[in-house]
Amino acid sequence: MPGGGVVHFARSSLLVRVAVGGAVFCGWDGAEPEPSYALADGCPQADARAVLEPDKDGWRVVSERITVVVFRDGAVEFRTPGGVVLRRELPPRWWDRAGRPSRWVQRSRTPADADVFGLGGRPGGPRLDAGTYRLWNTDPAEPFGPGVDPLYITMPVMLVAGGAGCHLVFHDNTWDGRVVLREGERGDGSGHDRPGCCEVRMDGGPLRYWVIAGAPGRVLAGWTALTGRPALPPRWALGYQHARWGFGSEREVRRVVAGYREHGLPLAAVHLDIDHFDGHRVFTVDERAFPRLPALAEELRRDGIRLVSIVDPAVKAEPGQAVYDGGLAVDAFVRDARGDLVRGVVWPGETVFPDFTDPAVRRWWGGLYAERLERGFAGVWHDMNEPTSFAAFGETTLPRSARHALDGQGGDHRAAHNVYGLAMARAGYEGLLRLRPKERPFLFSRSGWAGMQRYGGTWSGDVATGWPGLRASLALVLGLGLCGVPYSGPDVGGFSADPSPELYVRWFQLGAYLPFFRTHSALDGGRREPWEFGAEALRCAREALAGRARLLPYLYTLAHLAHRTGAPYVRPVWWHQPQDAALRAVGDAFLLGEALLVAPVLEPGATSRAVRLPRGTWYDTATGAAHRGPGQVVLAAPLDRVPVLARAGAVIPVDGPGDTVELEVWAPAPDATGGGSLVTDSGDGWAAPRRERYVSRWREGAVVVERDGAVVTDRVVRVRGVAG
Ligand code: NOJ
Repeated sequence: MPGGGVVHFARSSLLVRVAVGGAVFCGWDGAEPEPSYALADGCPQADARAVLEPDKDGWRVVSERITVVVFRDGAVEFRTPGGVVLRRELPPRWWDRAGRPSRWVQRSRTPADADVFGLGGRPGGPRLDAGTYRLWNTDPAEPFGPGVDPLYITMPVMLVAGGAGCHLVFHDNTWDGRVVLREGERGDGSGHDRPGCCEVRMDGGPLRYWVIAGAPGRVLAGWTALTGRPALPPRWALGYQHARWGFGSEREVRRVVAGYREHGLPLAAVHLDIDHFDGHRVFTVDERAFPRLPALAEELRRDGIRLVSIVDPAVKAEPGQAVYDGGLAVDAFVRDARGDLVRGVVWPGETVFPDFTDPAVRRWWGGLYAERLERGFAGVWHDMNEPTSFAAFGETTLPRSARHALDGQGGDHRAAHNVYGLAMARAGYEGLLRLRPKERPFLFSRSGWAGMQRYGGTWSGDVATGWPGLRASLALVLGLGLCGVPYSGPDVGGFSADPSPELYVRWFQLGAYLPFFRTHSALDGGRREPWEFGAEALRCAREALAGRARLLPYLYTLAHLAHRTGAPYVRPVWWHQPQDAALRAVGDAFLLGEALLVAPVLEPGATSRAVRLPRGTWYDTATGAAHRGPGQVVLAAPLDRVPVLARAGAVIPVDGPGDTVELEVWAPAPDATGGGSLVTDSGDGWAAPRRERYVSRWREGAVVVERDGAVVTDRVVRVRGVAG
């Protein structure tokens, strides 16, 4: 069989297949790569160069980037081309094999020094501590901090980084499960490290998984080749956005927007929450409070401000209501085994739930977005799609016995739960695309699963206002980025309660460097307008907004790169040095693309903070001072800014006067070169973008920037980091 083969054991079998691009598939007991909710275009072609052959220990498949050894007892090892073991899996165990579905557990060992990242959005990350992580998308019901787990997006995706290298493992199984991480013992000098241990336990579904090895950039490229490249947001979606649960009326929206205008603060979008619906019914409008939404949308649009609408999946069970009646007519709602509608309770009261795992239902639902577009909305915000149904006790979701189409496979909520949000995102994305084929859909979703990046991004959900919530905000963005979902950000200021001016400012400053930059708050959560926190906070927010606006060409370039390669905008500081344990421990700083290292302030009262530097020369962008990594420096962090460092040699496209883009170049090291790129397009639509690549170098005692081998003369170039 090209790409590998099947190894037979006394009571089971294992299929090993290497795909073009290097991802390895392993399926036990007859499990094949398809059908899969994660794979973007089905199973990639097999790499015909890889074949299953005998090995002294059993069998092996050798490929360009990885060697898989299958032992006679059913253990499986993944090794680098140099023979270093990245992971070793023990033979899996099944239960209830006669009465399907069967539960299973798979234990694996990774090198003692390796760390694990990912598993979806985990507020205690980015590096995951030893412990148990549940795989079941969950609305925590209360505003959460780092200790609350699981949250809205769980994924059986782990990125493992250590001295031996990096790999990603994805168990393609949508069922409820748990990942247990046990710490390995670090080197004590005896030469006998105990490996780290990971256990994946699933309540059912196939035992199949993918392994992708290589440097982080390669791993993310491989992962998003498999599960889909991240959707490219329209350019405006990189601007600052303001949401609120409880605007309550058009008048209040106008008042807030006018505040931004009067204070001279840029605003790219306003998000309307469920309070603009008629009695919380999705795809309706409270015509008394919002009598002329299309006119409001038009008026905002003239000032460059988009309107974004929340969309909840649950439909009020109310005969006579168009969405309910329309759904019944196409048999769209989830039923139980007896054929009765499954009812729940969400904001509008008693509700039913579309079965997004049915292609016909996705099509029907996608058509409903026409109403949103006619009202003037430019994007959608999917919420409550874990799915959540309020319950006084027990689980706040659909009963496990609820039936789902599962795209022809048929099954119950145990298999469908974790992909409910993903399938809803698909319905929304495809619907918007059908309705407005010339525009890029702007969609972000609270819940999701592996592959959700194909349809859009996500946000933190109800992160608790407080310093721990601020820290969790960054953990989520970093962790999701390593799972292939690069566009996300928190509710700036936190969802609940009132942040202090200092906390608000620090959150705002962090948000200004994250892909999705949006303030939001609960109905009783207090205000989030920058001028509500006093003159000093307003000045700091203004600075942060100006910094954001200046970086837009760079951020948009990163959006294109994420779309093309899967590399997240926000990357861990160990991105280029996954073998560096000290860098892997950093949870309070990040790389923004190749050029910048951002060190937000996540603690109260700080006026400076320690920053651990990766290898190379880094310039403090505030002072121009050069620092050499690896190592740690302490940098000033007064309330009006957070430390941001630029990599020596970086060429950063920044906003210039009018529509121009300037290049900010940080002097390369004396014998070295640096570089960067700029991707531009019309900001929306599907026309091919333009890409310019730059090289920075020293020439005759001066720093120059070149494009296609010639010195750039058609852009303003500002050289920094050169004394004098
Ligand atoms: C829960 C969401 O997480 C939050 O952002 C939203 O404001 C409320 N639902 C109300 O729609």
